[in-house]
Amino acid sequence: MKYSIYKIVITAIIGLCVIAPIATFATYYTNSQDEKSTNLEINILQSIDDDNMYKNIKSLSKKPRVAGTEQEDEAVGYIKKQFDSYGYKTEVQTFTFNDYTAPHTIELTLDGFIHIVDPSALEYSVSGHVVGEVIPAGLGKVKELQHLDLAGKIVLIKRGDISFKEKMLNAAKKGAAGVIFYNNAPGDIMGSLGEANDSFIPAVLLTQAEGEKLVKQVKNNPDTQATLNIEGAKSITNISHNVIATKKPSNQNNSKIKAKHDIIVISAHHDSVAGAPGANDNASGTAMTLELARIFKTIPSDTEIRFITFGAEELGLLGSNHYVDQLSANEIGRIKANFNLDMVGSKDAGKLTLETIDDKPNLVTELTQAASLKLNGKPTPVNQGDRSDHVPFAKAGIPAALFIHNPAEPWYHKPEDKIDKISKAKLQDVAEIVTLAIMNQTRVEHYAK
Ligand code: BES
Ligand code: ZN
Repeated sequence: MKYSIYKIVITAIIGLCVIAPIATFATYYTNSQDEKSTNLEINILQSIDDDNMYKNIKSLSKKPRVAGTEQEDEAVGYIKKQFDSYGYKTEVQTFTFNDYTAPHTIELTLDGFIHIVDPSALEYSVSGHVVGEVIPAGLGKVKELQHLDLAGKIVLIKRGDISFKEKMLNAAKKGAAGVIFYNNAPGDIMGSLGEANDSFIPAVLLTQAEGEKLVKQVKNNPDTQATLNIEGAKSITNISHNVIATKKPSNQNNSKIKAKHDIIVISAHHDSVAGAPGANDNASGTAMTLELARIFKTIPSDTEIRFITFGAEELGLLGSNHYVDQLSANEIGRIKANFNLDMVGSKDAGKLTLETIDDKPNLVTELTQAASLKLNGKPTPVNQGDRSDHVPFAKAGIPAALFIHNPAEPWYHKPEDKIDKISKAKLQDVAEIVTLAIMNQTRVEHYAK
């Protein structure tokens, strides 16, 4: 821990007290007020416990914590227990999401088709074994399918103009048994049907070259039959959770303290990707959110502070989207800032950076830069970034920023993202900056006599 700047300030103040003449009483008074708040800040910053964060990261990162798995549930239980132990009444908010397992077998065989066909499945394609005549159907728009007899047939459709999903539903409506999509541009392609749907029929995706050869073949041999076999694709409704601990404004009965209606959200995602134990991504942010909750529990504040760990960030910011979606307009108006902590403790990553979705400063970056300037002599830089849970807040009009070290470590989303890659000094540094930033926005001690 380094308090060099504080030390200089205090030494200067003491020096001033000794040598200043009585005529400068007003200056004295101001300085002694500053000194008081500075001492308070020091006490609080000193109580941030990097060992506690490290211990929590270690416990959380024994295994990957993929959303919707038992390991996520274990992590959620662990986080709730910690919040509860700090004196919070913790809410576990549950939400559902569509969990798709890609097929293990994708086969397409075509009678008389001499070229090698290497199909890829589309995300959300269903399993099935279908045999049928191949019918080219242009771009698969309703008008193009109108006069075609597609019942029990396998429809050959080119990418473009409308989504794969729309094309698929148009074909399914006409009673088709399967769909072969092909690209409208050269190169490899990963396709998605966007979401699961009970009306989907088995489908594969070919390259443009393969698709065009197939169209030619079918035109020359109109009875070409295809067999489409997809096995192992599964779509289930799964469950993930957000964990929420709320600190109400303090001393609400004390008439000297005017509680604001403001809310500040401190957040981090607790899930990880498959195969990575996610010590830095993002047991680090989770442990820091817990530590900030522990610290702030005893600090009087005029603002509500919500400490939230989100589920299913790695699946597309699902937990934070769910959270922001279920807020009332009134709550959205009251949330003045989102401090989102993601990958905040890697030994092997670069310097602390703030990321906003529009690259612009906002209340979060301003408070943070004032705090980092005071603590480290340099304001934390601001860059553009939209790869974490600050995004739904920002899109709802709430000042939001991601705290991350840039560049990221080589272990990002890898099995090596383990506790041995965590730096206590980095954790302590970020936690101090966030604590000071939030204290400066929510402090109430100046209300007291
Ligand atoms: N912690 C990362 C985001 C990140 C990593 C930001 C490296 C900046 C540098 C996050 O958990 C993640 O992996 N996000 C996804 C996107 C998300 C919408 C699924 C990503 O960046 O691929
Ligand atoms: Zn992350």
